[in-house]
Amino acid sequence: MRSGLSIMAAMDRGKYELVPIGVTKSGEWLRLDPRLLEGPGAALALEGDRVALLPQPKDHSLMRLDNGADGARKPLDVVFPVLHGPLGEDGTVQGLLELADIPYVGSGVLGSAVGMDKAAMKALFRERQLKIAPYRVFLRKRWRDNPEAVRTECESAFPYPWFVKPANLGSSVGISKVRDEAEFVTAMEEAAQYDRKLIVEAAVEHAREVEVSVLGNDEPVASVVGEILPSHEFYDYESKYLDDATRLVIPADLPESIADTVRETAVQAFLALDCAGLARVDFLIAAKTLEVFLSEVNTMPGFTSVSMYPKLWEASGVPYSELIDKLIALAIERHAEIHANRRSYTD
Ligand SMILES: Nc1ncnc2c1ncn2[C@@H]1O[C@H](COP(=O)(O)OP(=O)(O)O)[C@@H](O)[C@H]1O
Ligand SMILES: [Mg+2]
Repeated sequence: MRSGLSIMAAMDRGKYELVPIGVTKSGEWLRLDPRLLEGPGAALALEGDRVALLPQPKDHSLMRLDNGADGARKPLDVVFPVLHGPLGEDGTVQGLLELADIPYVGSGVLGSAVGMDKAAMKALFRERQLKIAPYRVFLRKRWRDNPEAVRTECESAFPYPWFVKPANLGSSVGISKVRDEAEFVTAMEEAAQYDRKLIVEAAVEHAREVEVSVLGNDEPVASVVGEILPSHEFYDYESKYLDDATRLVIPADLPESIADTVRETAVQAFLALDCAGLARVDFLIAAKTLEVFLSEVNTMPGFTSVSMYPKLWEASGVPYSELIDKLIALAIERHAEIHANRRSYTD
């Protein structure tokens, strides 16, 4: 919500008419009053008429659900989904927007879905021979049925420490670092609360965390590289959102050749997932050897004015509000590109 507020606050009201939509925890869409955006924090109270998009290409409109009579339709030109995690960043909302035939910012169904699923994402990275840390994927059922076999398989594949993660999530939720067998059991049970698919990954020791912003559709470009100095042992939920001690270093203090590798790999990763519009690509760099490991792609990165994604563009010469203009233009461009496809074989 903070990202959404920042984006709306930076949009040129002479150029855009804003139609803010809030999604409640239970999944209801509410059309918010744009005036709510003006008071500090005011829009954090989700209030407004219940609205919906129909999964049909005819109306291109937001529909009011209750007492919908006059003025119940609001035509939309572009949707900017500022949603993190499952049921937002994972292709589901994107699928609805495809059916509604409304241009939208960011990746399509495939890129969004793969960007949310670390197992599928790693498989595509591997296919492109992009360097990632060794890992294994397990279904929760297999773990519950045979934890010993799962642990033995990992132990014979790579030494401790490991990271255990739910495959589909983000924000470091459900992720733990594991140093031994006892910690492994706790970590797997924690991750298994969030997903039916679990990742066990070799830790990159003394990892430095660097990130690159990618922008574009078929010919994406990479920003300068930024580094995160987390306040905790790793970049967990608390250091991401709750404390102010985490620092961003832009540009990252890296030899030029390493920064170039990181930027080129970021573009490759974007293309490997068939992303569109924007993505932040995250890396882990071994502190001593400066070996670069691709970690993950985030198709809807944090977007407050102090978030890494827009900060990296600012440092690369694209100010925040111009970045929003570019993303909207890219959404329209991609929609037109898809519409150029022949859609019927017979007529
Ligand atoms: N293989 C690894 N080696 C070292 N640190 C890791 C590794 N995997 C994850 N981490 C740490 O955990 C954090 C969250 O993991 P990540 O895979 O980025 O998940 P999320 O999608 O939740 O951000 C990373 O930013 C990093 O601090
Ligand atoms: Mg991450």
